[in-house]
Amino acid sequence: MAQEFFLDSPMPDVLAQWQHYLALLDTPDDAQVLDVGCGSGDPLRLLARTALDAGEFVGLDKRFLDHHAANHTKAEAEDSRIRFQEGNAQTLPFADNSFDRVLCVDVLEWVPDPGLALAEIDRVLRPAGAALIVHTDFDAQVFAATDRERNRRIIHAFSDAGPNGQMGRELNGLCRRAGFASIETSVYPLVNTEWRPDRYGYQMARMMTEWLAQKQLIAQSDLVGWLDDLQQQSAVDSFFYSINRNICRCIK
Ligand SMILES: C[S@@+](CC[C@H](N)C(=O)[O-])C[C@H]1O[C@@H](n2cnc3c(N)ncnc32)[C@H](O)[C@@H]1O
Repeated sequence: MAQEFFLDSPMPDVLAQWQHYLALLDTPDDAQVLDVGCGSGDPLRLLARTALDAGEFVGLDKRFLDHHAANHTKAEAEDSRIRFQEGNAQTLPFADNSFDRVLCVDVLEWVPDPGLALAEIDRVLRPAGAALIVHTDFDAQVFAATDRERNRRIIHAFSDAGPNGQMGRELNGLCRRAGFASIETSVYPLVNTEWRPDRYGYQMARMMTEWLAQKQLIAQSDLVGWLDDLQQQSAVDSFFYSINRNICRCIK
């Protein structure tokens, strides 16, 4: 899960993470930019605010969600260079060599054939264009907790409940097999030392417990006890959370 909205109700840690991604994307003047699996549209809104001389920003998603609609409208009203379009990452509805930059963040685990999606990104990139492919490794989340066994059980159950909680560590191999001319691989570690609602670790812990309760994968008493424990860690100034965002900057 990425944090869907981070601009209007500011999430400083998530904002800093996106600023890091967009610096790596390094969008040149007049560039055409595609965000594959764009979700809420906040990343494109942020990019449009920083890449003032870029040409166009296209947000593509397989399915536009009702709760994203107002944000898409706001993005298009804020900046006429932004537009949204439905489409599938495995069959991108664009000609070869159409974009200078492509962004694809936390999407590939949801795509049945991620190699095909990467080949499509390579196809629509212009020669020497760059794609920033990012994926979280949910199995490598770190929460400081007193009950180690319960903590591990919850983290791994959440990771295994999605399509591929280890996509982050597999990303480098996938990108290297996709035929790009060169790839720089790195990791962005998002770190929280505070348990508070505008921090990603807080939102993530709550989302994990809701997801695991809904799927009945972990007993409710364990989930409540785990959240209480995290809050307790915070009360004694020992709260710690980290998550790795695996990054491949791929050049065509
Ligand atoms: C976890 S969200 C990430 C959203 C956004 N990239 C971000 O980081 O905030 C995954 C997104 O990928 C989209 N998606 C899943 N499969 C897709 C596909 N085959 N083609 C295009 N988008 C897809 C989903 O609809 C969803 O919006």
